[in-house]
Amino acid sequence: MRVLIVGSGGREHALAWKIKQSPLVRELFCAPGNAGIAQLARCIPLAADDLDGLLAFAREHRIDLTVVGPEAPLAVGIVDRFQAEGLAIFGPVQAAARLEASKVFAKQLMAKYRIPTAESRTFTNAEEAYTFIREKGAPLVVKADGLATGKGVIIATTVAEAEAAVRRMLVDQEFGAAGHQIVIEEYLRGAELTVLAFTDGTTIVPMVAAQDHKAVYDNDTGPNTGGMGAYSPVPLLTPELQQQIETAILRPTIDGLREEGLLYQGVLYAGLMITAEGPKVLEYNVRFGDPECQVVLPRLQNDLIPIIQAIIDRRLAEQTITWHDNHTACVVMASGGYPGPYATGKPISGLDRVAIMPDVYVFHAGTAFQGEDLVTAGGRVLAVTAWGKTRQDALDKAYQAVRAIHFEGAHYRTDIGRRENRLT
Ligand code: AMP
Ligand code: GLY
Repeated sequence: MRVLIVGSGGREHALAWKIKQSPLVRELFCAPGNAGIAQLARCIPLAADDLDGLLAFAREHRIDLTVVGPEAPLAVGIVDRFQAEGLAIFGPVQAAARLEASKVFAKQLMAKYRIPTAESRTFTNAEEAYTFIREKGAPLVVKADGLATGKGVIIATTVAEAEAAVRRMLVDQEFGAAGHQIVIEEYLRGAELTVLAFTDGTTIVPMVAAQDHKAVYDNDTGPNTGGMGAYSPVPLLTPELQQQIETAILRPTIDGLREEGLLYQGVLYAGLMITAEGPKVLEYNVRFGDPECQVVLPRLQNDLIPIIQAIIDRRLAEQTITWHDNHTACVVMASGGYPGPYATGKPISGLDRVAIMPDVYVFHAGTAFQGEDLVTAGGRVLAVTAWGKTRQDALDKAYQAVRAIHFEGAHYRTDIGRRENRLT
């Protein structure tokens, strides 16, 4: 088979690493990819949202399967376009991708199908939003409706902060069209958990769970990022909780979408808050998480390709999916300044030392070659991943590797996998 992966981050490097191991795959391409992915696949200089370019490439190179990493191409209908041309592609269609692309749509679906989530209201008018905020009082969470690469969610600890967030979105239009509608919701207390699931629109197969670390600094301080590290499994997830998540959240989500005429095929990402009252949905994503993908895929025993094919053909029920019972941990090394403005082009050293460390793999996120030199090319630069018999073992190996890698301005969290996970 000839397979094309769309995207350029740590998640896509993990997908390339896993897919490359499949005996079914003869040639692997990635658009646009990065310096790490280039060691496994032929990188094509096409942006992930260049649908015309990607479609032409897939046709011309007789691509048998396209696997989409990020949300942006899904939100603009890459799957619909490929399907219309009879090309096999992995991910939900545009109308189903609204689950991530519109928080208002997601909230309406959850309300209609009684899926537990924070209480919320939708606004397009700033005055009405201010009145609501004064009535409710802080803390509150203000969210832009559309895609905003993780920056469209503001946790307001005071009424003034909540009003300022509304002003930035509805009045100053700082988020463009993504912020023309907003959701204001109750602030939930608890522990966060990511549950990814494979689904063909009917059958749902949850993957092993992971926990992300969204804040940039230790002890969950500083602004939110795309994710600074993750680990799997998560001890918080008891068999009872797993059951509750499947029956109260995953099942009604996929069935509800089908009721709405939307067959959801791909990976469903449920971002959950485990509260004292049980699991509640913080957000849905319509793809693998980054960095959750980097700790989940290495635990998958199966070849990923037959699973993807079964999802596309709507026969996921026939697949038996099994997981390694090891532990994985991923520590993200970021550019100085990230998630704010940062410099790029800083030479990266030490990867040769890490290459010989057992049970460690460095997934590249924002890297590029400048001539022969490997340099930084993004906010999140490397997702240093390790596995072991225990979480501590995996973390020790990951941090040992992190300490061997250097680039100017590099920063990372030193407390990945050490949260207490209190529910209140
Ligand atoms: P989202 O993109 O909606 O998942 O929001 C990003 C992050 O903001 C989440 O991972 C949580 O850490 C936090 N968050 C979002 N909604 C809430 C909420 N209702 N209560 C508390 N924290 C939240
Ligand atoms: N790690 C969070 C995300 O992928 O959106």
